[in-house]
Amino acid sequence: HHHRGREDGCLTMTAPAIVLDCDPGIDDAFAIFCALRHTELLALTTVDGNVDVENTTRNARYLLDLAGAPSVPVHRGASRPIRSTSQHARQVHGPSGLGLVDVPDVAAPEAATSAVDALLALSERDGLMVVATGPLTNLALAIEQDRSFADRVGPVHWMGGAIDAGNVTATAEFNSWHDADAVEVCLRAGLELTTYGLDLTRQVRMGTHHTAALRRKRSRTAILAADLLDYYEAHGTQDGLGQPMHDPCAVLGVTHPQLFSYERAPIVVSTQAETRGQTTIASADDSSAGSITLARSVDADAVITEIMRAAEHPLANG
Ligand code: RIB
Ligand code: CA
Repeated sequence: HHHRGREDGCLTMTAPAIVLDCDPGIDDAFAIFCALRHTELLALTTVDGNVDVENTTRNARYLLDLAGAPSVPVHRGASRPIRSTSQHARQVHGPSGLGLVDVPDVAAPEAATSAVDALLALSERDGLMVVATGPLTNLALAIEQDRSFADRVGPVHWMGGAIDAGNVTATAEFNSWHDADAVEVCLRAGLELTTYGLDLTRQVRMGTHHTAALRRKRSRTAILAADLLDYYEAHGTQDGLGQPMHDPCAVLGVTHPQLFSYERAPIVVSTQAETRGQTTIASADDSSAGSITLARSVDADAVITEIMRAAEHPLANG
């Protein structure tokens, strides 16, 4: 955070300036609302993940327009993983990536520069934070284009990985699995990563009573959020506890770190076919391991309160 002390000694918190790299995506939509409410959102960069980059880019522009922030630039990113084939998650996020919403092509133009060029340029800015809620493809491409990027940027707060069970396979979380090679590039380059893995995000559940509460709000984003959450609930894990709100955790970890606890660990990622994307805690002397910060616990009620407020009024702040 960028604290600016005042003469009376009380700290005023200026909103952290971030770029949000995302693959909207239902939970990405909630992450975008949280970012609008609590950060200086410099840009969105989009990536192939839940659905193809054509759709994730259109969805990003639509969500910003709906939230009343059409001037936030959207930079289109990678259309496929760096070295593997792309496999989407339409069964969870719907045909367009935003449930059953028929996403219009909003007026807000796509930025002229690519996601990688935007990430490289913006990382020259002091104190820039990158939040990533999709596969790490764009970050890996930025590192391969300019090795100094990994040292300049960071920490990167990423929703990805899992220390225990996966979600797309028994062992792997989707963002890590979709582009495991990109995760390996980032770890080997020493990118400073703070990760919000499934073991963390599964503690933050929202379900039908949140949808009902959102429907009672009088804002366009609240109604859309309710529609997205309804779809997510109908197509997600049915353990009666509601759906895990993965991506907003990575944004709120930047803006509300007091709601999380963290520990550092050496992490490796598998790029072998049968365990692709599995992230495991490695031995300390494993040279291929990246030393990253793992979010381990969360005040789920407080995080859900922030997600609900951001879904209702993404542009109010404080
Ligand atoms: O595994 C959950 C992650 O995969 C989330 O980012 C969700 O949006 C999907 O991309
Ligand atoms: Ca996502």
